[in-house]
Amino acid sequence: MIRSAIVQNKVVRALIRREMKFNLRELNTKRKFFYPLAEPTYGEREVLSALNSMTTYSTTMWDKVKEFEKMFGDKYGGEAVMVNSGSSADLLISFAISEKSGGSLPPGSEILVPSVTWPTHLWSLIMAGFKVKLIDIDPNTLNFDLEHVKRNISKDTRGIFIVHLLGNMGDMRGLTKLCKEKNLVLMEDCCEALGSKFDGEYAGTFGIASSFSFFFSHHLVTMEGGIILTKDNDFAKRCRLLRAHGWDREVSDPAVSAESDIDTRYKFVAWGFNLRPTELQAGFGIEQIKKIDQFQEFRDENAAELEGSINRNSKFLSTMQVSNDVRCSWFAFPIIVNEKAPFSRKQLANFLDQNGIESRPVVAGNLAKQPATKQFPEVTFGALPGADYIHQQGLYIGIHPTTKRNNLKKVVQLLNNYCDQW
Ligand SMILES: Cc1ncc(COP(=O)(O)O)c(C=O)c1O
Repeated sequence: MIRSAIVQNKVVRALIRREMKFNLRELNTKRKFFYPLAEPTYGEREVLSALNSMTTYSTTMWDKVKEFEKMFGDKYGGEAVMVNSGSSADLLISFAISEKSGGSLPPGSEILVPSVTWPTHLWSLIMAGFKVKLIDIDPNTLNFDLEHVKRNISKDTRGIFIVHLLGNMGDMRGLTKLCKEKNLVLMEDCCEALGSKFDGEYAGTFGIASSFSFFFSHHLVTMEGGIILTKDNDFAKRCRLLRAHGWDREVSDPAVSAESDIDTRYKFVAWGFNLRPTELQAGFGIEQIKKIDQFQEFRDENAAELEGSINRNSKFLSTMQVSNDVRCSWFAFPIIVNEKAPFSRKQLANFLDQNGIESRPVVAGNLAKQPATKQFPEVTFGALPGADYIHQQGLYIGIHPTTKRNNLKKVVQLLNNYCDQW
């Protein structure tokens, strides 16, 4: 392996450290929000790793990707296939379950998806040729409503691709039982739930495969990036093929390939995309995964502090309920304005904005209401009262994996002051 002197150099390291510290301070003084949705969590080690990849001319998918996949799979329980985003992870799962890529579901099969999720979760299934029925969420947990799932299973339903929204989890015991009884393929979008557990088991280990995102605001950051986790070797193999052109070089035994009349250096055995991550992203991942448990502890502490304020103001506000079975790895902190509150969600959002607290709707709100969804007859839905409620009454603010207690105290103070004035 080529050695990079740059990453060993004390002067370079000190320069990077100083520059990052200075720029972070600059960022903090110039930005509009004193409490933004997300804060940088990477440091000198991630940057040095990226530099090392660049100065040794090893930037495209190679050893660091393999190393990070191994670390991730060992920690969270399965085989991991890294890709360039969480959306790409959703896309590959959707294609890998399809008969056209060697999976079990025929095109046109109906898959159930919760109506409050990130749009690419939904588009992935449509792009892979499936029909999607949106199901309602429980407005208390923001996650799938098991009773609604049961009511919506038809003779055409072949699978369910749930999301663990904002790190919370629904009744996984009930859902896995139902999927077994009805012979449904279960998939999990864990892009907001790295580290969450149900009954002691990690999110992402209940179905055939799960997706994770490593975007800037997520639990673990690789700039852009994502990963698929599965316990099914054949599924992982299909994802590896789909990730890189359908090219067999990552998955085939060369001795077998050599018997083919195709030049084995360029042998394509499936259709595919190019959704490969870079070594720079994997280098970030390798450093970040070492810190992930500490990040999660900080997130827990910060969520508890915000929950305290919601309890104090429970006449007007609530947050999501986490059942005793769930160990929630908080992605963000939802605030639901009670319907009977004297102020609207919009008024609260404006107040937060004017006072330096960045907020967003609860993910995309009710996806059935988004203009893009209306373009696709493959997406069907009935009444979605839980999703409608969250669409109208919900927003979220950030949960940071750092201990900026003063910032958080200021957020709590502002929330309390706002509620007290009504
Ligand atoms: C639930 C969910 N699924 C998928 C994604 C897509 O991830 P990415 O932004 O890495 O493409 C996100 C992104 O925020 C998400 O929240």
